[in-house]
Amino acid sequence: MIAGATRRLFFALWPDEATRAAIVAATAEAVAAAGGRAVPPANLHVTLAFLGAVPVGRVADAVAAGHGVPVAEGSVRFDRLAAWGRAGPLVLEPGELPAGLEELHAALANRLDAAGFALESRPFSPHITLARKLAGRPSARRAGPVDWRYADFALVASATDPEGSRYTVLERFPAR
Ligand code: 2AM
Repeated sequence: MIAGATRRLFFALWPDEATRAAIVAATAEAVAAAGGRAVPPANLHVTLAFLGAVPVGRVADAVAAGHGVPVAEGSVRFDRLAAWGRAGPLVLEPGELPAGLEELHAALANRLDAAGFALESRPFSPHITLARKLAGRPSARRAGPVDWRYADFALVASATDPEGSRYTVLERFPAR
């Protein structure tokens, strides 16, 4: 690796195939109605912590921080459609933030902070980004519900191709 090289990283809930299919089925109509650039199904996720550009020598520290987080299995119900701002993104959100997910986020943020990773201080607002650069408003305010059961979270690397973002799961942190 060349000196100064970085990887763009984030921690996320990453859906299994059934959850991914449920999200697509619940939101396809709203995504089509809103126009814009739909997020490919393979890219759907919920960001837990965004690290941004991490020096390659620090990637192992991010992995270690993830492994220090106690993960309990949980479930979150996504049922609310919203467009953030005038042109999106179009997102699917939970009507209620389950305590378990809030705790997972807080524990991860603590570990990352202790490991020296700078995180944003915005309140945690879990969402699945469905489309960007919208042409219109969402046709509905509700979708699903999609019950996302999770038993782990993931560290993901993001690369930008001419076609858009390409994500690679680097590591999974299972419930224990
Ligand atoms: P988004 O879905 O709301 O766009 C990979 O880019 C993931 O990290 C996306 O889920 C994206 O959120 C999130 N992300 C990108 N840039 C970010 C930033 N500066 N702060 C917080 N999250 C960010």
